[in-house]
Amino acid sequence: GGEAGLGRMAEPLEIVAAAEAILKPGARPLAGHHVLVTSGPTHEPIDPVRYIANRSSGKQGHAIAAAAASAGARVTLVSGPVTIADPAGATTVHVETARQMLEAVEAALPADIAIMAAAVADWRAAEESDAKLKKDGTGTVAPLPLVQNPDILATLGRHHTLRPDLVIGFAAETNDLKAHAEAKLRSKGADWILANDVSPETGVMGGDDNTIHLVTTSGVEAWPKMTKTEVAARLVERIADRLGKSGSGA
Ligand code: C5P
Repeated sequence: GGEAGLGRMAEPLEIVAAAEAILKPGARPLAGHHVLVTSGPTHEPIDPVRYIANRSSGKQGHAIAAAAASAGARVTLVSGPVTIADPAGATTVHVETARQMLEAVEAALPADIAIMAAAVADWRAAEESDAKLKKDGTGTVAPLPLVQNPDILATLGRHHTLRPDLVIGFAAETNDLKAHAEAKLRSKGADWILANDVSPETGVMGGDDNTIHLVTTSGVEAWPKMTKTEVAARLVERIADRLGKSGSGA
């Protein structure tokens, strides 16, 4: 069908990743490690044509998957519905709902490092209607009961048998960034939380830049405003440092 076969040019992003690996042969600090990343929003169906979603673009999670792959890791990316390309060098699993995302994440274990960057919908419709919901003409709106989705980050952070050595989550907050991130570290059993301010005026949601506070049990590190690609590179550096310190680095 012209999509694959001898003589077809590789994707430009794959060429760039391969060129980088050749030009920087020593720069593969995550070689020998399996990195599991989630990215993008989830879509939670209400009926055959409607769903609950959010404005996540997947740019941050995909950039992290690409950075980990170019640092030599074996990368599994579990992505919700996004319009951006699969990152080069990673195995991408496409899902729609939070429950499918959890299933794909659990199927990808064991992993050494988990980075949960997806904006998972907190709630889904309690029941998905097989038929399109209709107005009934009386002006009365039918109730839409919601139930809570499984928490993928907390599932990994508290996994009894296959907890990754390093479990990293994001905290997208509009206020009291650090306090919320510290609470999240504890409630989800995560090792690190990357907190970012997603107030509408920051343009983070869907935008190219991010301002991060890296919150760990030993303190808070404020990073300057940078692109999501730079955030990914810095996170990979921090992970490589940590692997070096714990003596499990390749
Ligand atoms: O609780 P909150 O949604 O603010 O937490 C955000 C962090 O938790 C992110 O790392 C996100 O990927 C993760 N998360 C998850 N599953 C959920 C909700 C959030 O993995 N159902």
